[in-house]
Amino acid sequence: MNSDPVIEVRGLCKRVTDASGELTILDGIDLTVHAGSSVAIVGASGSGKSTLLGLLAGLDSASAGSVRLLGHELTGMAEDQRAALRNGSVGFVFQSFQLMPHLTALENVALPLELQGGLTTREAFARARALLERVGLGQRTAHYPKLLSGGEQQRVALARAFVTHPAVLFADEPTGSLDAATGHAVIDLMFELNRANSSGNSDASGATLVLVTHDVDLARRCDSMVTIEAGRRVPNAPHTGSPEDVREAPERGRIEAGR
Ligand SMILES: Nc1ncnc2c1ncn2[C@@H]1O[C@H](COP(=O)(O)OP(=O)(O)OP(=O)(O)O)[C@@H](O)[C@H]1O
Ligand SMILES: [Mg+2]
Repeated sequence: MNSDPVIEVRGLCKRVTDASGELTILDGIDLTVHAGSSVAIVGASGSGKSTLLGLLAGLDSASAGSVRLLGHELTGMAEDQRAALRNGSVGFVFQSFQLMPHLTALENVALPLELQGGLTTREAFARARALLERVGLGQRTAHYPKLLSGGEQQRVALARAFVTHPAVLFADEPTGSLDAATGHAVIDLMFELNRANSSGNSDASGATLVLVTHDVDLARRCDSMVTIEAGRRVPNAPHTGSPEDVREAPERGRIEAGR
């Protein structure tokens, strides 16, 4: 619809203090993400990617610098204000999934719709069920998270993040626990959301995707790539934008089933 920045980050720093003293996790990050675009955030383990994603989504607060999300300055905003901004506009897939243990897969996916309001419980459950079917979990809707495999939990977390048709989808290693075939299906689903907002609102642009990934296929499909090294943004390899510094991470259990 337009190319206004959905996210604008200037001089973003995150420092924490623990028993061993002050640690700088992010140090002066600048970043602009335009509406409807897709960005892959890449970098070695411990470089600060998850911390950055949490700050962009307003889940955490910065030590210095500014983050504008959907036109709102997050710096200085109280948690309940940030939650109100996120609600319905932002989907987030955590690296550790963070499903509600006492809710079934279906209830987990329906929860954001219920929090948002506007739909009957029946409608919310129908939409949640359809999305679980899309991610191949139509037979697992009544399962509690602890009875699901890691890859299944990841897909429930993705369905939960998609269900409100968010304007911005943040996903931390969204294919990290999936085999190649399932990973491709999930990637296709994310880019479908990116291309068109399936909410039926024809005015809406597609969702902006901000993805942390070690998955070369996924990073390649994104419009741009941001590389983080020890808390700083580094220029990408020249003239490619290709994910040369995306490392496969076999320890994450990604199975490259040749297909
Ligand atoms: N609350 C905290 N207190 C102390 N250290 C922290 C805290 N949060 C993050 N860190 C440290 O900051 C660094 C960056 O963490 P982060 O989780 O952002 O890395 P990452 O790039 O997502 O890594 P991975 O690829 O392994 O998920 C790590 O060294 C981590 O130990
Ligand atoms: Mg991480």
